[in-house]
Amino acid sequence: MMLTLNGKPTRVAAHPMTRLLDVLREDCRLTGTKEGCGEGECGACTVLMDGQPINACLVPLAHARGARITTIEGLNGRHPLQRAFAEQGGAQCGICTPGMILAAVALGPRPSLNQMRVGLAGNLCRCTGYTAIYRSIRKASGSLTGLSATKARRARRPTSKT
Ligand code: FES
Ligand code: FES
Repeated sequence: MMLTLNGKPTRVAAHPMTRLLDVLREDCRLTGTKEGCGEGECGACTVLMDGQPINACLVPLAHARGARITTIEGLNGRHPLQRAFAEQGGAQCGICTPGMILAAVALGPRPSLNQMRVGLAGNLCRCTGYTAIYRSIRKASGSLTGLSATKARRARRPTSKT
C-alpha cells in the first residue's frame, strides 16, 4: 500500500487493518509518534493526515492509502514550534509533545488562545498545565515577541513631566 510519509512516497507491506500507529512505529521505525491510551483519548499518537491531525491509534492503514502523513520526524527538528517548546518549557516529560506540536502545526500561523484551547482539546498533558504550551505556540508564531516588544516600547516611552 502506498502513502506519502514525511514527503516521501512510501510502500508499506502491512495488513490493511494494522493501526497506522503500529505501522509508523514498527514498520517505518518512526518512534517519535507515541502511544498513550491506545483508545483515542489522549492525543499522544497525533500525526497529520493530509494536513489534519488524527489519532494514529484509531486509524487503520487502509484509511491512509494514498494520504500524506506527517510525523514529528517530518519537521526535521527545525520547525519554530519545536524550538519554542524547548525554550518555553512546553515540553517536559515529552510524551505528549510530538502530538501536541503536530496539532499546533495544524492551527496555522497565529492562532488565538481560544483556537489553541479548542485545537488542542484532544491532546492531554500531565506535566505542563498547558500555560507553557500556549506560551510556546505564541512564541513560535511571533505573537509573544510582538507582545513583549509592545510592552518594552511602552516601558521606554517617557512619562510626561508634572
Ligand atoms: Fe492514540 Fe491516546 S494513544 S489517542
Ligand atoms: Fe509530559 Fe505533556 S510534557 S505529558
